Amino acid sequence: MGLCDERVVIVTGAGRGLGRAHALAFAAEGARVVVNDLGVGLDGRPGPDGPAALVVEEIRAAGGEAVAHGGDIATTEGAASLVRTAVDTFGRLDTLVNNAGFLRDRMLVNLDEDDFDAVMRVHVKGHFLPLRHAAAHWRAESKAGRPVTARVVNTTSGAGLLGSVGQGNYAAAKAGIVGLTLVAAAEMGRYGVQVNAIAPAARTRMTEQTFAGLAALPEDVSPLVVWLGSAASAGVTGRVFEAEGGRLTVMEGWHPGPTADKGARWTPAEAGEAALKLLAEATEPRPVYGA
Ligand SMILES: NC(=O)c1ccc[n+]([C@@H]2O[C@H](COP(=O)([O-])OP(=O)(O)OC[C@H]3O[C@@H](n4cnc5c(N)ncnc54)[C@H](O)[C@@H]3O)[C@@H](O)[C@H]2O)c1
Repeated sequence: MGLCDERVVIVTGAGRGLGRAHALAFAAEGARVVVNDLGVGLDGRPGPDGPAALVVEEIRAAGGEAVAHGGDIATTEGAASLVRTAVDTFGRLDTLVNNAGFLRDRMLVNLDEDDFDAVMRVHVKGHFLPLRHAAAHWRAESKAGRPVTARVVNTTSGAGLLGSVGQGNYAAAKAGIVGLTLVAAAEMGRYGVQVNAIAPAARTRMTEQTFAGLAALPEDVSPLVVWLGSAASAGVTGRVFEAEGGRLTVMEGWHPGPTADKGARWTPAEAGEAALKLLAEATEPRPVYGA
């Protein structure tokens, strides 16, 4: 018996790296998998290959069931056809793993508008659109009286949680994914959908140069993703986990620290004095990566 027998799982950006490892790990637990990948280069520009088909071959060679989808998940057509592919091929959809993305790292003073837009688009829109189309499917299922035990696993990053020098576009996008995760978890719970996010760290083409010392493998991250994407994670929603090698961490988010209430409007000088007093009592924030 696998943890995901009977489940149909979409993994975006599953042609290589973390997504490929997730797709293989879901298939090993009995899931039927839609392997999405547009096959772009490290910076999102068109690439030469169609890596989704290779991962489908690997899954089938191991006795599993999978289908490739080569669409762009940051377009309405790509996201809608992705959900349609799961339902038309396998008759249902249970889990969506949003993982596709790329980098255009620059210091802010050199960050072109195009590089900002491209990174925001692939990560934020590339999470929102598949989530939106999957959510519409699950709401319709739920309203039709069919039981829904759906799971969404989004992919944020330490850059989005703490900030990362040289990655203003990527950090903003990955922080946006955390906000989207919290809202989706709150809105979709009533339809039987749980939504969580992971902040992975693993050696892939995305990290092999910037983080040359990073030895952990994508396959180390996938077990948590498979569990979050299975029915076994019942009751877990709206949470963010870091995963690197054998280490799993629940990330605890923003919460109110020291506070002061004058009961009336402050003057700027008073507000400054109060702010400094509060800061003296507050916990120091964790450093921004690369600072
Ligand atoms: N590797 C890490 O340590 C690390 C750390 C934090 C976050 N992440 C995140 O994990 C995810 C996977 O990263 P990775 O390291 O495996 O990178 P990767 O470059 O190995 O794989 C990403 C895949 O996404 C695909 N893709 C890009 N744009 C797409 C689009 N519009 N539609 C469909 N597919 C598209 C690419 O073709 C590629 O195969 C990303 O969201 C990344 O930001 C990775």
